[in-house]
Amino acid sequence: MRAAVTLEPWSDGDLALLTRLMGDPGMTEHLGGPESPEKLRERQGRYESLEGGDRIFKIVEVASGAGVGSVGFWTKEWRGQQVYEIGWMVVPECQGRGIALAASAQAIELARREDGHDLMHAFPNVENAPSNAICRKLGFELLGPCEFEFPKGHLMTCNDWRLDLRG
Ligand SMILES: CC(C)(COP(=O)(O)OP(=O)(O)OC[C@H]1O[C@@H](n2cnc3c(N)ncnc32)[C@H](O)[C@@H]1OP(=O)(O)O)[C@@H](O)C(=O)NCCC(=O)NCCS
Repeated sequence: MRAAVTLEPWSDGDLALLTRLMGDPGMTEHLGGPESPEKLRERQGRYESLEGGDRIFKIVEVASGAGVGSVGFWTKEWRGQQVYEIGWMVVPECQGRGIALAASAQAIELARREDGHDLMHAFPNVENAPSNAICRKLGFELLGPCEFEFPKGHLMTCNDWRLDLRG
């Protein structure tokens, strides 16, 4: 069953959810592995103090009011241009219900309304089937595989997907 979701700004009470997302081996299989408690606290701090047009949202399931994931876009220097990079994560027990697709569509609409960068990219690992499917379904254009460093010092092969926010 498709889940209705809404987006809320990430808050200082969301470290536990962040730990379930970026601190879990299964969840970070295509993201270079789980972050340490120290790295998670640093990330939480960054999420609480984002500047400019960068945004991180908690995905909230309307029916239960529970936080079930994160979606966000942030500025990235990519091939000499300032663009947005978008990312999405959904807790395991809620996957396969259209949550990431619905939440990302909402985030993209917010990015379109703001006077930020014109282009948005997503860089899912080439082996991350659901994440590549989401790019396709959201109308991103596949530019092809690229070498991508995340986290620092960890290289992987990702697909470079691009969306024109002004298109
Ligand atoms: C990627 C992720 C966010 C997808 O979340 P989700 O809420 O399950 O995604 P959705 O239910 O919206 O699925 C979207 C589409 O992906 C496709 N899909 C889902 N699971 C799939 C799978 N295992 N294999 C292939 N395609 C799949 C489906 O086509 C689905 O669309 P449809 O249901 O309309 O046919 C989730 O798997 C996740 O959090 N993974 C760990 C973190 C991560 O890798 N994030 C991405 C970093 S780039």
